[in-house]
Amino acid sequence: MINFKIGIIGAGGIATGRHIPAFKEIEGVSVYGVFDVNHVRAKEVAATFSIEFVAESEEQLLRHVDAVVICTPNKFHHQSVMKALDAGKHVFCEKPMAIASHEAIEMEEAAKKAEKVLQIGYHYRFKKESLAAKKAIVAGSIGDPLVVRVEAMRRRKVPGWGVFTNKDIQGGGCLMDYGCHLLDLALWLMDYPEIELVEGQTYEMVSRDPDQVNEWGIYDATTIDVEDHATAFIKFKNGATMLFETSWAANVPSDKESLSISGTKGGISVFPYALNKAEQGIMTTTVADWISGEENEGLAQARHFISSCLEGREPLVKPNEAKIVTAVIEQIYQKSN
Ligand SMILES: NC(=O)c1ccc[n+]([C@@H]2O[C@H](COP(=O)([O-])OP(=O)(O)OC[C@H]3O[C@@H](n4cnc5c(N)ncnc54)[C@H](O)[C@@H]3O)[C@@H](O)[C@H]2O)c1
Repeated sequence: MINFKIGIIGAGGIATGRHIPAFKEIEGVSVYGVFDVNHVRAKEVAATFSIEFVAESEEQLLRHVDAVVICTPNKFHHQSVMKALDAGKHVFCEKPMAIASHEAIEMEEAAKKAEKVLQIGYHYRFKKESLAAKKAIVAGSIGDPLVVRVEAMRRRKVPGWGVFTNKDIQGGGCLMDYGCHLLDLALWLMDYPEIELVEGQTYEMVSRDPDQVNEWGIYDATTIDVEDHATAFIKFKNGATMLFETSWAANVPSDKESLSISGTKGGISVFPYALNKAEQGIMTTTVADWISGEENEGLAQARHFISSCLEGREPLVKPNEAKIVTAVIEQIYQKSN
C-alpha cells in the first residue's frame, strides 16, 4: 500500500476548505505535515485535521514529505515552489502561478530541471462542464474557435478577509485572483494559441467608495489598492479573438460566470453547458449527460495531482500554460491607464 506523504505550506482558508479534506480522502495518501508562518494557526489546523507533524520551517517540512501543497498568499508562491523543487519534491501550487512573469518562467524551468510535477490550482478545468467542453472541442464539434467571450462577474463581493485587497502581497485584485480561472479555462479550451496582442483596462473606483456595499465582509476602502473590474481584448496569431471581463464589485443584478466560443462549425457554452450546431438544415443544442455521481473539482484536482506524481506524468494544468496566464494578466495591468 502506497504511503504518499503530503505537506501543506500555508494553512489558511483554501488549505482547510479544499486541499486538506480532498487529499485526506485519497487512499494511500496522508496529509503528514503542515507549516505556516503563523505557528499557532499551523498547530490549530494540525489538531483539527489530525495532522501528525507541525514543522518549524519549510525546510524541515520538506525533509519529511514526498510533495507539498503551497497555499500561501500569491507573492510567496515563487519562493516556496523554488525551495520545494530544489529539495526534489513534487509541488501543487495554488493559483496564480506567480505574480510576475519572470518568476513563473523560473518556476517552469526549475520543475523541468528537477523532473518533478508542478501543477497549478486552476481547478475550473476539472469542472464537469469544462471537461465536457474540452472533449467536444477536441472531437472537432465546433471546428476552429473564432470568437471567445468570457464574463467572470461577481456582484459586490470584494473578499473582506485575508490579504486579497493588498496589491503588494496578492499582486492584483479580481483579475489576478478570480478572473485568472476563466482566463486559463478559455485559453485551455482554445489549446493555448499564440498571442498576438493584449489590450486591457482595470478599474478600482467602486471599491474605493467609502459608503461601500459589499456582500463578502468588510475591507478598508481607504487602503484597498487592487482593481475591482477589468476588461481585455486578446487577439491570437491564428486570427481568433477573446472578449474578457471580470469583476468582484460589479453593479450587475446578479453574479454571472459565462464562457462561450463561436467556432467555424458550431458553438459551445461552458456555463451552463450547451453545444450548438447547425445540422441537417436546423440549429440544434445538445446538453451533456454528465450530471450525476461525479466528484467535485477539488477532489478531482487532488487525485489528478497524486496520479501525476506516482505515474511520472505531466499534469493537466502545466507550468508552461499557467505562466501564460500570468503573462496576460501582467500585460493587462501594463496596458491599463
Ligand atoms: N483556487 C481557488 O479558487 C482559490 C481560492 C482562494 C484562495 N486561493 C489561493 O490560495 C492562496 C491562499 O489563499 P487563502 O485564501 O488560503 O489565504 P489565507 O490568508 O486564508 O491563508 C494564507 C495562509 O498562509 C500563511 N502564510 C503567509 N505567508 C506564508 C509563508 N511565507 N509561508 C508559510 N505560510 C505563510 C498565512 O499565515 C495564512 O495562514 C492564495 O494564493 C490564493 O490566491 C485559491
